[in-house]
Amino acid sequence: MRKIAIAMAKGGVGKTTTAVNLAYELASQGQRVLLVDCDTQAQVSKFLGVKPTYGMYEFVTGHDARGAKVYRNDAIFPARENLWILDGGIKLVELKHWLGEQPREIRHKCLSQTLVPKNNRLDYLIFDCAPGWDVLSVNILMTVDEVLCPVALQGPALEGLKTFFGYLLSAQKQNKDLQLSYILPTMFDRRTRQSFEIYQKLKRLFAKQICHPIRHNVRLSEAPARGKTIFEFDRRAPGAQDYQKLSRRLIDDAIRAQKVPRFF
Ligand SMILES: Nc1ncnc2c1ncn2[C@@H]1O[C@H](COP(=O)(O)OP(=O)(O)OP(=O)(O)O)[C@@H](O)[C@H]1O
Ligand SMILES: [Mg+2]
Repeated sequence: MRKIAIAMAKGGVGKTTTAVNLAYELASQGQRVLLVDCDTQAQVSKFLGVKPTYGMYEFVTGHDARGAKVYRNDAIFPARENLWILDGGIKLVELKHWLGEQPREIRHKCLSQTLVPKNNRLDYLIFDCAPGWDVLSVNILMTVDEVLCPVALQGPALEGLKTFFGYLLSAQKQNKDLQLSYILPTMFDRRTRQSFEIYQKLKRLFAKQICHPIRHNVRLSEAPARGKTIFEFDRRAPGAQDYQKLSRRLIDDAIRAQKVPRFF
């Protein structure tokens, strides 16, 4: 099972758009995916047009807001075929308080100890991270092995990346398996020089990790309002083609690294 955080310190760079569309496309390709929403905005369930009763708060604490017991399996919501979600939302504020109150030695490792799927039943565990840095972000980086970092090709993109690398480095001191696997350029607009320049720079700096860019595509911003992924909303849109390429890259890399067996 691959455990990947879609993370970047900067807000509005396409983390949730990437997490949802990538998870959906991987699931469509037959991969079993659990998508974990780590943001108080609960965007994942909104983007997918579903309303789970429970989520990460209940999963980690083992009870609901009134103190009634909740089994972990009941917190996992089936959103599409092969795609399950663990909802985020405002209850994560409470969860962060709860995490902060745990003894120091388990505070940062709570998630890595509870989010352990049984018997290899999942192929991908994907985390849609919130911008910024807090006790939950640390927990996520202690749980995953890989980070996919979306970088919007506009404004001071590289500054946001520098801040995030500071966080990543401090997390790597405690999680030796953690690696930056992918840099995903987003909001690529071929009409602007800035887009090209940032993309070229990223290609030079991250030759191994760089992914094919996600173009700026208004259909990608329209799909969430309908509670649909880009593949369900407009399969022929450039956004769908780009996220399909990304999903292909992840699957090919996994085969190459023999993280999934080669049957044929
Ligand atoms: N390639 C794209 N083209 C056009 N619009 C996009 C693209 N990617 C994302 N968007 C839109 O940009 C906005 C921000 O995207 P998204 O919510 O995915 O970013 P985020 O990094 O998760 O934000 P936050 O840090 O607030 O969680 C959304 O309205 C989304 O629909
Ligand atoms: Mg988001």
